[in-house]
Amino acid sequence: MRTILVTGGAGFIGSNFVRMILSEHSDVRVVNLDLLTYAGNLESLGEFLNHKNHIFVKGDICDGELVNDLVVQHKIDAIVNFAAESHVDRSLVEPGVFIQTNVTGTLTLLKVALDHKLERFLQVSTDEVYGSLGTEGFFTETTPLSPNSPYSASKASADMLVRAFSHSWGLRCNITRCSNNYGPYQFPEKMIPLMIHNALNDKELPVYGDGLYIRDWLYVYDHCTAIWKVLTQAEPGTIYNVGGNNEKTNLEVVGIILERLGKPETLIRHVKDRPGHDRRYAIDSGKMMKELGWRPTVTFEEGIVKTIDWYLANTSWLNHIVSGQYQQYYQSMYSNR
Ligand code: NAD
Ligand code: DAU
Repeated sequence: MRTILVTGGAGFIGSNFVRMILSEHSDVRVVNLDLLTYAGNLESLGEFLNHKNHIFVKGDICDGELVNDLVVQHKIDAIVNFAAESHVDRSLVEPGVFIQTNVTGTLTLLKVALDHKLERFLQVSTDEVYGSLGTEGFFTETTPLSPNSPYSASKASADMLVRAFSHSWGLRCNITRCSNNYGPYQFPEKMIPLMIHNALNDKELPVYGDGLYIRDWLYVYDHCTAIWKVLTQAEPGTIYNVGGNNEKTNLEVVGIILERLGKPETLIRHVKDRPGHDRRYAIDSGKMMKELGWRPTVTFEEGIVKTIDWYLANTSWLNHIVSGQYQQYYQSMYSNR
């Protein structure tokens, strides 16, 4: 049996990844290290929290002693690092914590991985490290890094550290750079769940600027299968872009949500733009497809219906989140916008 240390496994993508591993790979044990920040939620793991192959540990990836102890105690073979501060808007208000978790935290994990010569270190990165595109072209793995927000700058810094550990000491690392994910268990600060929640409650849908910003949306399960393929099949030292080949403007996405929920377009309100807002992301996943045989399996048309239906069926998960600090967050971000 292999044992992997998954960090951030109580967050959106991490919890979907843990669910996938425990459901589909009975020979893998998961040690799940998560600080349970505002974005971490044990409810997202549901019955998998007590699965026989799952050990949950509340703790910080910046705590080198803890990470070292976990690696020794559980005989960890590989680390998959999801843990991060992940929301661009928050990074524009409070960048310090992004540097601490995303940069110092990654460095801490890398040092322990090197000390124990782990079989693999997989850094879950983002297409935002490449910056913004005009109307043409796609990000490839050789596109120069050009991050524009404190969030993407912190992720690009972490990628550079991974590269350095691989280059200098031969640590067996990989980096995945994925486009925008959507699906179950996403915190409603991100555009899709925020718009679903507001529409369900007949609240205004705050569209930044002209709403013609473009994202390449990928259903979260397909991101998880890509990460698994890279972890188990890729050569060490390689980077893979992961995308849905599914570009939509924000207004198109919001329109689809309103239509599915039977709500009027008059709920849309154009609000002050995000500073430095990246205009367009689009990923070329050709390398993933050719070298690792990966393909997205869920179209946007299917995935958005599954996602909306999931939020409709899981109101208690959503209500627990929006009843607390979330109200303060929403007020501070949107009330004077
Ligand atoms: P998320 O914010 O939903 O979850 C992050 C998790 O990390 C939370 O459970 C949180 O408690 C935990 N965490 C935060 N700081 C920690 C710390 N210091 N120590 C331990 N745990 C800590 O994020 P997400 O959307 O699931 O993103 C996961 C990863 O994937 C991130 O690295 C992000 O950069 C990357 N990514 C996200 C997307 C996307 O569309 N959401 C796309 C590409 C890449
Ligand atoms: O591309 C991958 C990245 O996708 C990940 O690395 C990030 O962790 C993840 O948060 C996401 O970043 P974005 O900034 O693209 O996602 P967000 O959901 O915040 O915004 C998507 C688009 O919607 C973006 O153009 C901004 C816009 N938006 C967002 C919110 C929250 C709005 O118009 N209104 C909103 O209220």
